[in-house]
Amino acid sequence: MTDKYAVIGHPISHSKSPLIHHAFAVQTQQDISYQAIEAPLDGFKSTIERLVNEGYKGCNVTVPFKFEAFKLCNQLTGRAQAAQAVNTLFFRDGEVLGDNTDGVGMLADIEQNLACKLLFKRVLLLGAGGAAHGVIWQIFNAGATITVANRTLEKARQMVSEFAPYGTVIASTFEGLEGKSYDVIINATSSSLADELPPLPDGLFKPNSLAYDMMYGKHSLFMKFAAEQGASHCADGLGMLVEQAAEAFFKWREVRPDTAPVIAKLRA
Ligand code: ATR
Repeated sequence: MTDKYAVIGHPISHSKSPLIHHAFAVQTQQDISYQAIEAPLDGFKSTIERLVNEGYKGCNVTVPFKFEAFKLCNQLTGRAQAAQAVNTLFFRDGEVLGDNTDGVGMLADIEQNLACKLLFKRVLLLGAGGAAHGVIWQIFNAGATITVANRTLEKARQMVSEFAPYGTVIASTFEGLEGKSYDVIINATSSSLADELPPLPDGLFKPNSLAYDMMYGKHSLFMKFAAEQGASHCADGLGMLVEQAAEAFFKWREVRPDTAPVIAKLRA
């Protein structure tokens, strides 16, 4: 029997997840269906209940429901607890189990696909919202030194305070970055969505720096700025999108798909 999965968001019509999971299913010969479902903004919980009742095995969760998903789970993985957000649900014996594959997805893209190991690298994470929270623990666990810069300093401070028992993560304003430079600069703000650019000072990028925008689908102002500032490597979040999907697929199906041909297909 075909096992049913879905991605839930609002809006959802733009989602590439069905395409990605269909490609994984064909590649690994898994008998699954995967559809995009738009839940009403006030109807996430009832949509999940419906899927459980209809025998779905799990689903992905995207904007704006990742925090709500986190709150309704009966059980959470450690990485979902750390991120305080859930992007992958499992429905098992009437229970809803939550995981978060965004951080490992980004790490796989940066360290494997882009061949940039984060151990002892100076990483600047721009933003202190949900997207930044979803990935910061993986960056920290990879052994990087992290500065979090955010428009609202208090939110950056709050985020870095979680790391106090384990190591130093620094909070900064954008102005506070003046005169500093980093090996990897990750844009986890939602500025690219609005065609805006955080007010970044000159000189942040070194010739070998990697500029990484978690957004995908367009050449963002952040990517343009990074190239102008001399960053030799610029990447958008398409690889991360496919890698987080691959990790979810692996957890659901216990078979790991090959991401490279799927990334290549989406780029084409
Ligand atoms: P997401 O889930 O996409 O992270 P979010 O939780 O609303 O969304 O967080 C958005 C992040 O982008 C925040 O860090 C926000 O900064 P503030 O905390 O100061 O609001 C940041 N952001 C959004 N637009 C921005 C802009 N034009 N310049 C700089 N930062 C921006």
